[in-house]
Amino acid sequence: GLSNTKEMFAKANANGYAVPAFNFNNMEMALAIIEACAEMGSPVILQCSKGALSYMGPEVTPLLAKAAVDRARSMGSDIPVALHLDHGPDLETVKTCIEAGFSSVMIDGSHYDFAKNIEVSREVVEFAHSKNVTVEAELGVLAGIEDDVKAETHTYTNPDEVEEFVTKTGVDSLAIAIGTSHGAHKFKPGEDPKLRLDILEEIERRIPGFPIVLHGSSAVPQQYTAMIKEFGGEVKDAIGIPNSELRKAAKSAVAKINVDTDGRLAFTAAIRRVLGTTPKEFDPRKYLGAAKEEMKAYYKTKITDVFGSEGA
Ligand code: G3H
Ligand code: 13P
Ligand code: NA
Ligand code: ZN
Repeated sequence: GLSNTKEMFAKANANGYAVPAFNFNNMEMALAIIEACAEMGSPVILQCSKGALSYMGPEVTPLLAKAAVDRARSMGSDIPVALHLDHGPDLETVKTCIEAGFSSVMIDGSHYDFAKNIEVSREVVEFAHSKNVTVEAELGVLAGIEDDVKAETHTYTNPDEVEEFVTKTGVDSLAIAIGTSHGAHKFKPGEDPKLRLDILEEIERRIPGFPIVLHGSSAVPQQYTAMIKEFGGEVKDAIGIPNSELRKAAKSAVAKINVDTDGRLAFTAAIRRVLGTTPKEFDPRKYLGAAKEEMKAYYKTKITDVFGSEGA
């Protein structure tokens, strides 16, 4: 069955790697993720946002995750698999997910003030822990999901706050803001895409060994933005987080790294390529199958280049 993240994170930080947390919206993405991780022998967190949950439905979502576990087992793999709510907005959504069978949740109170963030996160921890479900919360604000992201819009996590936050809330992991951001437009070409690893180090000093989470960690692979453009799509010129920066983070107390955009780009690029090169094709298996294989291949490289979780 599905696992919570407790043991996954303890093992990751004891052994200097991070667990991949990949978002999914449909069957092909769930299978791409599970097959990539099963073939690499990597633990995995299958995660979906509230929007993805309502797209697939609360009936289908947990079935896809449970089917993914069965697929891994049928491939001869015993990797642990978590089903995680990404950016849970409130206790009500968390309860819906836990009742549906999620093994892990995020409560994102990062937009509230410190006291209110503690209050909402604490409330979720009380409910989730009574069901053996692990909880991620967030301190600090990532730069916007929108275009034209600028460094000034990051509210970096304040290391002075982390110990009080994790103690008072009882959360199992903490998402922090050190310069990553959501979406496909993280930095303009030519900008220096460096993370504030000094803030991460300071946070580690305050809460040694505590599992840290990085959101917004896609690399925005240029081969996919180029392919999307080649076959009629439009993408702004932008770059993401270099794999080398994330590799350093994975070796630290960072135990979970979130990637969604890279998978979406790989998936979409492959669909455009198939439809663009075979215009008579209308069998969905041809373009969705190609999309699944592209996403799977990319995530396999990401596991060795960033996470270091292969064969864990
Ligand atoms: O952090 C957000 C994730 O990339 C999911 O985005 O709300 O479009 O599903 P979404
Ligand atoms: P990216 O948009 O960089 O893939 O970030 C995904 C994420 O943080 C999901 O919570
Ligand atoms: Na780590
Ligand atoms: Zn996120």
